[in-house]
Order: sequence, then structure tokens, then C-alpha cells
Amino acid sequence: MNMLTSKAAETEAPIRTVAVVGLGYIGLPTAAILATNGLDVIGVDVNPGTVKAINNGDVPFVEPDLGVHVAGAVSQGRLRAQLETPAADAYIVAVPTPFKADKSADMSYIAAAARAIAPKLSGGELVILESTSPPGSTRRLAELILGLRPDLSLDGRDGKPVLLVAHCPERVLPGRIMIELVTNDRVVGGLTPEAAEAAAALYAVFCQGEIHLTDAATAEMSKLVENAYRDVNIAFANELSVISDNLDIDVWELIRLANHHPRVNILQPGPGVGGHCIAVDPWFIVAADPGNATLIRTAREVNDGKPGYIVEQVRKAVSEISSPTIACLGLAFKANIDDVRESPAVEIVRRVAEQHPDAEILVAAPHKDHLPQVLAVLPNIRHVETDKAIETAQVVVLLVDHDKFREIDPASLEGKRLIDTRGFWR
Ligand SMILES: NC(=O)c1ccc[n+]([C@@H]2O[C@H](COP(=O)([O-])OP(=O)(O)OC[C@H]3O[C@@H](n4cnc5c(N)ncnc54)[C@H](O)[C@@H]3O)[C@@H](O)[C@H]2O)c1
Repeated sequence: MNMLTSKAAETEAPIRTVAVVGLGYIGLPTAAILATNGLDVIGVDVNPGTVKAINNGDVPFVEPDLGVHVAGAVSQGRLRAQLETPAADAYIVAVPTPFKADKSADMSYIAAAARAIAPKLSGGELVILESTSPPGSTRRLAELILGLRPDLSLDGRDGKPVLLVAHCPERVLPGRIMIELVTNDRVVGGLTPEAAEAAAALYAVFCQGEIHLTDAATAEMSKLVENAYRDVNIAFANELSVISDNLDIDVWELIRLANHHPRVNILQPGPGVGGHCIAVDPWFIVAADPGNATLIRTAREVNDGKPGYIVEQVRKAVSEISSPTIACLGLAFKANIDDVRESPAVEIVRRVAEQHPDAEILVAAPHKDHLPQVLAVLPNIRHVETDKAIETAQVVVLLVDHDKFREIDPASLEGKRLIDTRGFWR
């Protein structure tokens, strides 16, 4: 059995057992990699279907190489999943942090995880918040636990047993999670230096990148800033795409040429920005300082406005066709994955279907075997193979740059109106 020692752990009990709370895209890979590196890992999830699948060695979503790790760890008895939060030496919280209608963070999942952990503690444990969180969240998590457990303290003052609390944001890219978990650098922020050291020692079990220690609020902000930086740069490209359309300029050619400048690197435009991170996290900065986050807010608005622009292009393309058939290619928020959270493609398909009730919408989503509920409930949408969608459509809308769509025979597109949000068919 692997047993961790760190500066902090030398004075506290060593970490043998880790409970990972929330077994989704982030929690399950983290649980699996800790287990395959020799720790005893108990995964906790509120979804009984997730728990059952994992205990059967299955992965309830698509992520390359994760299945092998989970199946191996479960069969070796190193990883098991359950609904109840257990006693453990360390806890990693990887529950969702979506935004609410007013764009502020929904902290209810973190609070629920904290309430479940609190009664299991006996002092000396390490609690790591991995969920992407607004500044101050790790301290609020600790305060919530200590409110329920006044017999513990963060720094051992008054002779009380210590609770080590840290934030370690996750920066992996879906589709490459099992590689990037190992190779990416990590930022670890502790509420105390001892907590940061203990968390760093735990990640060092599998992380080959550099582990950078800081305080919790800076670590929280570093993750938000990384995504806001991406969002602002994508917004620049998306705004250029609309201006270029208006001026009858090919935006991809424009960007290609501008990027020949040694200090220019413009990103590619698309139908908007989706996913659980880039489309969400910048709002946490806006909520933290609304008066000053003007560029960050505007970037969000530019990117959120792009689906409406594509829907308008579809309206123009079908304006003279009665009962049109519209092929929409792709639903995911990025290439070669099945994740449709906050996906602009889903929003575009939904709005097109609702605005054109006489149209038949044929959706090709090669990484999914069914439509998301928000689309399945609409009577004029069908999920079909890519060739089938293109064959009968008068209008083809390319929404996601899946590799499979690069294989489309250009001859099959002849005579059709194309709305290409990805620059495949210039
Ligand atoms: N998906 C990504 O690419 C990515 C990347 C970096 C950071 N993050 C962040 O990581 C966090 C988790 O994201 P995710 O993509 O893994 O989410 P997810 O929705 O895939 O998984 C979250 C899991 O937590 C479970 N859950 C909810 N409440 C729970 C509770 N109280 N106790 C136990 N389990 C609970 C859910 O059933 C679900 O299985 C979020 O804060 C997200 O912003 C995600």
C-alpha cells in the first residue's frame, strides 16, 4: 500500500484512504488515478446509477483511457463507489459549481458535500476543494465544516485537532484528461501553509508536472482567470467573424494572415462558447467585482450572442424554402467529445427548431446515441447518421469541428446552402 508522508503529514496521520466526492468528468479520473497509484479510494456520488456503473468497472460517460483505469482499479479492490460519505484520511470534493439564473455560483453542491464530510472527521484530515469556485469558497467550505465541528480548528490553536483545507483547481482538457492529470502543472492553495503542503504531497502521487503552492483565494482566482483569458480571446475572434461577414471578408483567411505577425495569435471563431468551464467561470469573476470586470463581462456577452447570429443566418438561408430540411452537424461544445453542457450547438438547434416549426431538423451527433432531452421533446428534430442528414437537406449547418465531419465528401454538399461556423468548407 502506498502511504503518503508530507511535512504536514509527518505530524498528522499518513494518508492511506482518499474519499473523492462527486464522480463526474473530474472526480472519477482523479479517483481512478489515485487508486491505480496505490491509494485506497472510495468514490462518493449522489447518483445511484453512477455508483453502480463504477462498481461494475464501467464509466458512465465518454473519456479516452478512463475505462481501463476504472476497470483496473475496481478489479484490484483499490476503488469502490458508494452513496454515503465515509471516514477517510483525505477528501477531494469535485462536485458541480454551475451558475444560477443571476449568473452567481450555485454553491449548494459544495455545501452538501461539506455537511456530509463534517460528521466523519476526527481531526488531522485533509479536505481539498477541486470544484471550480469563486474567490473565498474554500474558506466558506472550511467555515461550514468548522461550524458543524467546533471541536476542530484550521491551525491547532486552543489545542484543538487540526483540519487541513486547500483548494486545487483542475485544469484538464476533456478528451485528454488521463494524460493531462499526470502531465499538467498544478496550483495548490492552502488556507494554511501546512494544508498546501499536505495537498501537494497527495497530488505528487500521480502528478508529474510542477506543483505550485499559494494561498487558497489566489488558487481559486487562478483557475477563473485562465478561463476568462480564453473567453476574452475567443470573443475577439467571434467578434471578428461577425464584422468580417458584414464586410464580405473570409475571417479564417484574415486570421491566418494576421497570425503571421510575430506577436499576434488570434484564436479561431465558432458558434459560441460552451462547456462547464469557459462559459461559466468568468461570471464568477464578474460576480466578485461587477464594477471592474467590464472586459470580462463583455467577452461573455459577445460569445453568448454568437448562437443568435447563427440562428439568424439559418433564418435567411431558409427564407425562400417552404418546409425546409436543415442538417445540423454536431451538438457537443467542442470537437470529438460527447459533452453537451452549455453547448452553443444545442442552443442553436433548439432555437432553429422552435423558430421553424414547418422545417425538419436532422441532427448528426456521431459521439451521442440519443438527443439531449431539451431537443428530444421537440417534434421536428431527428437524430440521424451524418450522410443521411446531408443527403436530404437543403441547408447544412456545421456546428462542431468533429474529426468525423472532416471526412464528409465535398461532392455531397454541392447545391446546398452551407452555414459553416468552423471554417471547414471555405
Ligand atoms: N469537466 C471539466 O472539463 C472540468 C474541468 C475543470 C474543472 N471542472 C470543475 O470540476 C467540478 C466538477 O465538474 P465535472 O465536470 O466533474 O461535473 P460532473 O457533473 O461531470 O460531475 C459531478 C458529479 O458530482 C455528483 N454530485 C453532485 N452533488 C454531489 C454531492 N453532494 N455528493 C456527491 N456527489 C455529488 C454528481 O452526481 C456528478 O456525478 C466543477 O466545479 C467544474 O467546474 C470541470
